[in-house]
Amino acid sequence: MSATAKLEDLEKELLAAVAAAGDDARLEEIRVAALGKKGSVSELMKGLGAMDADQRKVMGPALNGLKMTVGEAISARRQSLHDVVLEARIATETIDVTLPARPEQAGTVHPVSQVLDEVIQIFGDMGFAVAEGPHIETDFYNFTALNIPPEHPARQEHDTFYFNEREDGSRMVLRTHTSPVQIRTMENQEPPIRIIAPGRTFRCDSDQTHTPMFHQIEGLVIDEETHLGHLKWCLEEFCKAFFEVDELKMRFRSSHFPFTEPSMEVDIGCSWEDGQVKIGAGDDWLEILGSGVVHPNVIAAGGLDPERYQGFAFGVGLDRLAMLKYGIPDLRAFFEADLRWLRHYGFASLDVPTLAGGLTR
Ligand code: PHE
Repeated sequence: MSATAKLEDLEKELLAAVAAAGDDARLEEIRVAALGKKGSVSELMKGLGAMDADQRKVMGPALNGLKMTVGEAISARRQSLHDVVLEARIATETIDVTLPARPEQAGTVHPVSQVLDEVIQIFGDMGFAVAEGPHIETDFYNFTALNIPPEHPARQEHDTFYFNEREDGSRMVLRTHTSPVQIRTMENQEPPIRIIAPGRTFRCDSDQTHTPMFHQIEGLVIDEETHLGHLKWCLEEFCKAFFEVDELKMRFRSSHFPFTEPSMEVDIGCSWEDGQVKIGAGDDWLEILGSGVVHPNVIAAGGLDPERYQGFAFGVGLDRLAMLKYGIPDLRAFFEADLRWLRHYGFASLDVPTLAGGLTR
């Protein structure tokens, strides 16, 4: 038998073995036995050196061809074995993604998040954008720019969390209200400004209706001809939409905030039944927010001309809104991350509040 005929036989034999191999391990055995250092093909290649030139011209390419053919056959077989394994897995490991989540694993939306979404919907519909500011503020943004100079008594009322003194003697604070966002917004936007600024706020205080961290929503409107009527209408529309009532008694009580003049606190009518508050009717009053016409000093601190621009601002306690609307008695439970509480007071995660579809279903 000629040398090339022998090679053809060897190729047939190897390809048959490759085709019959049932797994990776067997394929590897075949590869080592043929193409490994001491493999049958490798041994034949070692013989090339001893051949005369004519023989080598024939056998060299033939052996290289054999080596390539066998190598490729092994790779192809390996791939098809993997495909088979994968197909088998895909066929057996199925998951029906249209099934509802398992009840014990379904999360709920926290009442604060729910109320935040509702408030954003309502004010968004009136043309307000959402603005944000940092939790750690400078004394300037939290107080001075808001017309609360050093030594002003309002600073004491805020039960402020202060950071350690910095080298220049100044101290950062955890913002005690969302009002600093008023200044930051005026610095960065041209009037007309219409924003709400929801977020965390901090005061050193804790009882049934106070927690050291709580949430506020600030509102700010700045334009050339904005007056108290706009403020009143906005807040009335907001309260009616939020509490989902057609009629709502509201009362504006004169009050004092350094950053607004005049300042008003807003109460809404309510009644009490079995310790539960009902919003809208009744002869009792509930205070729900602080508001007023932005003080000229504040407009100037925000870099705008108070001769040209005026506007109004308000601040609402988000957690308090949630307590009132959803009858939740203790604020501290909001932040205890108790799963039983969350299951009881939480909202279905796919029921996104919209004005058209209903805020709450
Ligand atoms: N920042 C005030 C507070 O925390 C609320 C407020 C905001 C009042 C804007 C008037 C205008 O009590």
